[in-house]
Amino acid sequence: MNSFEGSRPTLQPAAWISAAQREAFEVAGTTAHRLASGSGGWVERLGADVIVSFKGDGAKTELLKGLEQWTTKTGWSPTRVFTRFVPTRNADRVSPVLHEGDASLSWKTTVTEAGIRYRLDIAAGYSHGLFLDQRLNRARLQSFKPKRVLNTFAYTCSFSLVAALAGAETLSVDLSRKSLDRGRHNFELNGVDPARHRFVADDALELLPKLADQGESFDAIILDPPTFSRSGNGRRWRVVDDFEYLLMAALEVATPNCAILLSTNCTKLDPVKLRRRARLCAKARRQTADYIEIGSPTDFPPGHGASTLWMMV
Ligand SMILES: C[S@@+](CC[C@H](N)C(=O)[O-])C[C@H]1O[C@@H](n2cnc3c(N)ncnc32)[C@H](O)[C@@H]1O
Repeated sequence: MNSFEGSRPTLQPAAWISAAQREAFEVAGTTAHRLASGSGGWVERLGADVIVSFKGDGAKTELLKGLEQWTTKTGWSPTRVFTRFVPTRNADRVSPVLHEGDASLSWKTTVTEAGIRYRLDIAAGYSHGLFLDQRLNRARLQSFKPKRVLNTFAYTCSFSLVAALAGAETLSVDLSRKSLDRGRHNFELNGVDPARHRFVADDALELLPKLADQGESFDAIILDPPTFSRSGNGRRWRVVDDFEYLLMAALEVATPNCAILLSTNCTKLDPVKLRRRARLCAKARRQTADYIEIGSPTDFPPGHGASTLWMMV
């Protein structure tokens, strides 16, 4: 080992799901889940395909070798394997690369979660269209059977879709028109008429007070903002600084007995800190709330996936 290798952080071997876990996903109608998670990257199964996301060459080699061993052991193998470099800076992100499989096939694919269909685009890069770590929160939202759902930072509208399938009217808000169009397409894929739901391309932070002024209210609200954002008017926004503003604005449009999902990938906000901040917001409004922490899905070991908390006001 040379002196440079000696100073590198040690790569923890990835933890792979068992054959029984994969079969359980299949039985549950879920074809989009993680296969492995490690310190140097992770492996996702997306329908018939697999994406190996890696932070460095050592991890890439380890994960590809692990995938080969795992497929031999479990008897399940993908049609295609993509690899994707995960840089430390967002500006350095690059498109995934086809590592193995038929180059003539479309990079768009359809996966299922609990039997619900989602259209993914592997070529879209970092975000293919479905955040797998939110699986339990989607199921929880559906189990609440809400009547009116506000999904802020909606992306491809997966939370709106599960709520709509449970009978809710939904309002999905995202700055990106393209993501909302993908959301509409996901509705159609599942036989839900998007024309009966609202999709608004706007800044969630600016829209929330307008919704309150219009007297709108919701019995379920999804708050899953990015760590950093730029508002519609170009203002920089950081979840760690602006979380309370967002939650206070959401509480203005919450019905009594509203379920609010607080979710973030910001490493400075774990569920304990989320709860502390949410309590302060409730106190400022002289409201009480219960908190439910449902944790991460079994294919996401501790330290992987978003920090999430349900606030039941
Ligand atoms: C972390 S993703 C949300 C994932 C989504 N909750 C899900 O589970 O599929 C962040 C989304 O926020 C959107 N976004 C960023 N800043 C925004 C803003 N100020 N207002 C509305 N949407 C915004 C982005 O376009 C992106 O689609």
